[in-house]
Amino acid sequence: MNILLLGSGGRESALSWKMSQSPKCENLFIAPGNAGTSAYGTNVALGINDFEAIKTFCLDHKIDTLFPGSEDPLVNGIYDFFKADAALQHITIVGPSKLGAALEGSKDFAKEFMKRHHIPTAAYETFNTQNFEDGLRYLDQHTTPIVLKADGLAAGKGVVITSDKEEAKRVFTSMIKKAQFGAAGSKVVVEQFLTGIELSVFAFTDGENYVLLPEAKDYKRIGEGDSGPNTGGMGAISPVPFAQGDFMKKVIEQVVDPTIKGLKEENIIYQGFVFFGLINVGGDPYVIEYNCRMGDPETEVVMPRLENDLLDLIEKMKEGKLDEVTVQHSANAACTVMLVAGGYPEAYRKGDAISGLEDVKNSIVFHAGTTAKEGAVLSNGGRVLAVTSYGSDINEALQTSYESLKALHFDNMNFRKDIGYEFK
Ligand code: AMP
Ligand code: GLY
Repeated sequence: MNILLLGSGGRESALSWKMSQSPKCENLFIAPGNAGTSAYGTNVALGINDFEAIKTFCLDHKIDTLFPGSEDPLVNGIYDFFKADAALQHITIVGPSKLGAALEGSKDFAKEFMKRHHIPTAAYETFNTQNFEDGLRYLDQHTTPIVLKADGLAAGKGVVITSDKEEAKRVFTSMIKKAQFGAAGSKVVVEQFLTGIELSVFAFTDGENYVLLPEAKDYKRIGEGDSGPNTGGMGAISPVPFAQGDFMKKVIEQVVDPTIKGLKEENIIYQGFVFFGLINVGGDPYVIEYNCRMGDPETEVVMPRLENDLLDLIEKMKEGKLDEVTVQHSANAACTVMLVAGGYPEAYRKGDAISGLEDVKNSIVFHAGTTAKEGAVLSNGGRVLAVTSYGSDINEALQTSYESLKALHFDNMNFRKDIGYEFK
């Protein structure tokens, strides 16, 4: 296979690590990639939303499989762009049509979809400029905490949770009127606050059948004990101890099956990953969000625990034969600990030299925000490195990651010291 993977984070590092191990991998290109992905394939300087440049590259390099790692190109309709072009139609896209990607791209679309298919999710109302005043009255009567979600993609900054009604009204007003989150601000979903432990479940579907990949739990807050602001994710573990038995049966019957069936019934073209952001409320799963791609940093533990050949799964997806596949999950646990730039998720510095990469022996270091310059590896983002380890259980995996990361250094390096804390 000749593959072009779009993205430059830890997720794309883990995906290219996994794909490069396949005997089916002939050429793997990563656009734009990072200092780590060049160990698994060839980095190419293309923007992930520059569809024309991606087209030219695909034709010049006989790409047969385009794999958008992140949601942006999918929500922007890269699938539709390829399928509408006679020269590109034959290329397999690992990811849904623009309409399918709206499961992630529009909170309101996702909520309506769940309502139509009786998929458990927090109760909600949607407001826009027309019923703005109703929204303010609704907030007055709402129980606290209140969850406010800007409708479109907002890079993790579109959700505000507050117990202060006046603050809720201020945020609501600015989300709707001031378009604080760009185009994402025109509609606002107000929803019931759910209490429980979150987890991420991943289905890989050919539009008809699906397989489940190993589940994971990520740690979104910057601080220990889940304190401070949300980040892209500070670490992850897999498996998740409570994701078994009755609970997983409910996840499959109440969430995954009706989602895959619902997409098909509504003729929404969808081949690729469905990421279910779930919360366990007293033993019952509720959907917090859908994503139309793999998670980051979840991929950095899911790919290491997936024993199947990922390119084999992609081939079966293309053929609509995922029913022929049995997914093998490693018996080992895996964890990843993110090393981030000081200051992240607020302002942080880039361009700091990273040392010690060659000294890590017992873990896999997936590069996230890094760049190569004159033989050195420099930090180039908020999340810089993901230190992934295996273990016979989560504790052992975590011990290994925390031991390994002692070898790594860059100025103002920060990381959470309590990944997996609930399960120790
Ligand atoms: P989202 O962007 O929808 O994933 O939301 C970001 C984070 O906000 C989630 O990971 C949850 O931690 C939290 N969150 C979102 N919706 C709810 C809800 N209805 N109840 C409680 N927490 C929520
Ligand atoms: N780790 C959460 C996400 O990828 O959206």
